[in-house]
Amino acid sequence: MTRLALTDRYGRTATDLRVSLTDRCNLRCAYCMPEEGLAWLPRPALLTDDEISRLVGIAVQWLGVTEVRFTGGEPLLRPGLPGIVAAAAALDPRPVLSLTTNGLGLDKLAGKLADAGLDRVNVSLDTLSPARFNQLTHRNRHADVLAGLDAAVEAGLGPVKINSVLLRGLNDDEAPALLHFALAHGYEQRFIEQMPLDAGHVWSRADMVTADEILAALSAEFTLLPDPAERGAAPAQTWLVAGYPGPPKVGVIASVSRPFCGACDRTRLTADGQVRSCLFSREETDLRGLLRAGASDEELARAWHTALYGKPAGHGIDDPTFLQPARPMSAIGG
Ligand code: 5AD
Ligand code: SF4
Repeated sequence: MTRLALTDRYGRTATDLRVSLTDRCNLRCAYCMPEEGLAWLPRPALLTDDEISRLVGIAVQWLGVTEVRFTGGEPLLRPGLPGIVAAAAALDPRPVLSLTTNGLGLDKLAGKLADAGLDRVNVSLDTLSPARFNQLTHRNRHADVLAGLDAAVEAGLGPVKINSVLLRGLNDDEAPALLHFALAHGYEQRFIEQMPLDAGHVWSRADMVTADEILAALSAEFTLLPDPAERGAAPAQTWLVAGYPGPPKVGVIASVSRPFCGACDRTRLTADGQVRSCLFSREETDLRGLLRAGASDEELARAWHTALYGKPAGHGIDDPTFLQPARPMSAIGG
């Protein structure tokens, strides 16, 4: 029973919660983290498994959240993940549960996560070339990602989606090959425009591989058909691929060149217990402090509601006054 919907000044209602379980990661994707890693959040600042489960419960039972996605950093690095999933799956009403992962270790954990109640996974994979993978992520783990993808299908965590970010001069020629690979395996392919969320603050709009470029490259090898399904609040615009009936589909998440902020239904919780109304927010609401000071469920729900009420209309990346948020993507959650 929703007692306080997460509605904002612009009439949007957040029903999709992204929970970052850790800011740490075992890859170093060029568009995310420097090779030497980052100054990780101190352990006492991290929510405990029980604190996460309590806040997820409040989001679902008080605030009307219907979908919960676990992210990182890399969420598989969190030892308590299966228990956190199981606690979310036990909620009434039961939310849809998904995970965004880089796939490392998924070969060993997929079955356990499915048993705990996980519904779906998105796996990040930017290249089909092991050598390029090493260049892009600074780790020699391409084969582990492929093993993780296989295990996800085996465990029934489908439809498995692949998230790819294309970087100019590194893998910007791989859009068709990635789609061929996804279609051959029954994965749904998603291309994500690179966003200004890198720890190094080197993102440049001019360098970004745009949705238009990606679609042009795909159209040279595939016939993309309009997807009859309603887009709703989905960040991806999707197409069906001629010759492949129904799903698998292909999607492009054009956060920068075709923003979809007007339909956004997201709220975010960081690993250190801060609520954000937007990836690009410069403001956060400290639920961890409230929670550890003994706040009731109702008090926490009210604070969350207030945080979302002030959600900005849009990310404003194209505005000359745009400032990148202080936290990089890995400390917010994708
Ligand atoms: N721009 C776009 N996507 C990004 N991701 C991480 N950093 C960025 C960025 N700066 C993607 C990852 C992963 C998901 C969590 O977000 O590749 O698929
Ligand atoms: Fe890790 Fe994801 Fe960042 Fe890559 S994009 S370094 S997998 S958190």
